[in-house]
Amino acid sequence: MMKRNFGIRRNFMFLPPYKIKMVEPIRVSARKWREQKIKQVGLNPFLLSSDDITIDLLTDSGTNAMSENQWAAMMLGDETYAGATSFDNFKKAVRDILGFPYCIPVHQGRGAEHVFDALFVKEGSVSVGNAFFDTTQAHIDYRGGRTIDCTIAESKNTSSPFLFKGNADIKKIERALKENRGRVSYILLTVTCNSVGGQPVSLTNIISVSKLAKKYNTPFFMDIARFAQNAYFIKEREKKYKNWPVQKIAREMMKYADGALMSAKKDALVNMGGFIALRSRALYQKLVPFAILFEGFPTYGGMSGRDMEAVAVGLREGVDEDFLRSHIEQVKYLGEGMRKAGIPVLLPYGGHAVYLDMKKFFPRVKPDNFPGQAFCAELYIESGVRAVEIGGVLAGRDPATGKNRKPPLDLVRLAIPRRVYTKDHLDYVIEGVKKVWQRRQKIRGVRFVYEPPVLRHFQAKFRWV
Ligand code: F0G
Repeated sequence: MMKRNFGIRRNFMFLPPYKIKMVEPIRVSARKWREQKIKQVGLNPFLLSSDDITIDLLTDSGTNAMSENQWAAMMLGDETYAGATSFDNFKKAVRDILGFPYCIPVHQGRGAEHVFDALFVKEGSVSVGNAFFDTTQAHIDYRGGRTIDCTIAESKNTSSPFLFKGNADIKKIERALKENRGRVSYILLTVTCNSVGGQPVSLTNIISVSKLAKKYNTPFFMDIARFAQNAYFIKEREKKYKNWPVQKIAREMMKYADGALMSAKKDALVNMGGFIALRSRALYQKLVPFAILFEGFPTYGGMSGRDMEAVAVGLREGVDEDFLRSHIEQVKYLGEGMRKAGIPVLLPYGGHAVYLDMKKFFPRVKPDNFPGQAFCAELYIESGVRAVEIGGVLAGRDPATGKNRKPPLDLVRLAIPRRVYTKDHLDYVIEGVKKVWQRRQKIRGVRFVYEPPVLRHFQAKFRWV
């Protein structure tokens, strides 16, 4: 993937540095047929078959297209139980790209969280950071821990132009560390921060957080599912680093942390995999027993040899600047297409997705009628495009009051899988969203007909209001 580079990148801002060798057919269906399908699944796009979908923007996780070099490396996978050479290649890539000498492979990001929290999170302990991703939060809750979200206030304003909306508020972090002395399990920065719109964290912020971690003698880790996008944004937006290669910035980001949790399904360009990367041998040794218990022997964790080979190549391809530019420009292209039509989008655009602001899209639909859920069903009917609600349905109910939580942001996410769709596909998506926008006055929201008690968004069913 990185073989052609003639040093003229700047002239080709949008040029994807790859061409297509293998294609996968997609279904183009009739509107009537889609109306029936979405009704059958209770207006919940999670319950559609991929066969029913034209363009799938549900997630960028595990939906990436692998390169010829990744496929070739897979053929060399060593499936030995203990001491597989594929693990050596994997470990070397983690060390080269991220600078961490120790790593534990796991089957995916939440596998890393499971192993990691088994050691760190206790009943009553507190984890502090910017906004925690859902599974990260759920693993901490599951062990009786608590989280304190210290993301800066700008992150709640979808039109604030601030360039590092993933940053942690340093004062809030310090207050949380002070008030919970002796109870803080770790500080975790998620880069980029998925839960506030795929927004980056600046290196200045990372450095400030690491200073606090030292001052309060607290371990500091990062969730690096989308670290390469974060490094790219630092290069683009933080003056001091504008002449640094993205790879060097990625290494610099890691330098300040004790370790990192990785879902390789994002910026390592694979369909399945993950790891915990660590600086200290002592910590590695403490985590290994949990890794063996929950994931597998430490030279394969939750992965087969061939999967580790694909991650090893994917990690290197993932920091290629031509690739990152073309992906992030794709996100921007999709966002601009909608913004120019007056559609309320979250700004600045994130690294992996465009987010639509449902409070502004449907100002008259009540939060209890879940505007984002209604939007996703309508977008599917209009175009066969699948998006995902990140708002009231996802937030669930407050266990104390039994009432629907009202998250500050009510969003819909259109995530772009890496190296999968072309500009033509994105134009088609923009047209679909515009059609929903044009008839937004007629849309009144949805109501539950079936509401599961936990993680309701996956299985819930609705009807139109
Ligand atoms: N951390 C972040 C920041 C994530 O975005 C995800 C997954 C995980 C951890 C968990 O990783 O899925 O490999 O177990 N995000 C996906 C998404 C599901 O659609 O944003 P996993």
